[in-house]
Amino acid sequence: MKKLTLDKILQTQGFGTRKECRNLILHGAVGIGGEIVTDYQEAPDTADLNFTVDGEPWRYRAHVYVALNKPAGVECSRRPAVHRGVLSLLPDQFTLRDVQPVGRLDHDTTGLLLLSDDGVFIHAQSSPKRHVTKTYVATTQEPVTPELVAQLSTGVKLADEPAPLAAQARQLDTHQIEIILDQGKYHQVRRMLVAAGNHCVALHRSAIGGLTLASLGLAEGAWCYLDDAQMALLAPQ
Ligand code: URA
Repeated sequence: MKKLTLDKILQTQGFGTRKECRNLILHGAVGIGGEIVTDYQEAPDTADLNFTVDGEPWRYRAHVYVALNKPAGVECSRRPAVHRGVLSLLPDQFTLRDVQPVGRLDHDTTGLLLLSDDGVFIHAQSSPKRHVTKTYVATTQEPVTPELVAQLSTGVKLADEPAPLAAQARQLDTHQIEIILDQGKYHQVRRMLVAAGNHCVALHRSAIGGLTLASLGLAEGAWCYLDDAQMALLAPQ
């Protein structure tokens, strides 16, 4: 396979246009193996390529797969209208390489959000056919009752859905319920709670498939790259 030149490599990693990347290299901003490289036509092997830009370490990644502990007050849309956008919590390079959220959380929902620049992965994860479960913890306005749990488990009718939607549900506390969905309809948890006669006052996503936010140890607003073992947990359980 034809090797990429260093300017092209930097471009794929989100460091700007080809010209901007050439300039970075020519100005001595880029290092490999502790040496500054000023020849942008150098074509290092991208397998296990570590490099620095202005002293900051990077690893070449054909695609990025990241998990973010999304805080409240952050929009998942690409053109945020009211609140700050989720991409503002990640390195600028991610925006340039077109990293996007995998599905959306409401601006006031917190917790586990995946982001990637791999369109195939985003599509597969978002596909309703794939049934990757999403686990939410909802804080409710009214107390959680056995009837609420039963209603959510057997199914509630939402206005624009032809059939009732059901979820796995279990009470966690007087005003807290865990709800596990294997689809992702618009505002589904909040609407299901309203349909069941309660109201969601706070919503947190604690897991996607078998990947829990707790296992990642991310502070609010922090993110990490996902390794192969973590990626493998993002499958139907
Ligand atoms: N369900 C909702 O109602 N909101 C979310 O953000 C996610 C699931």
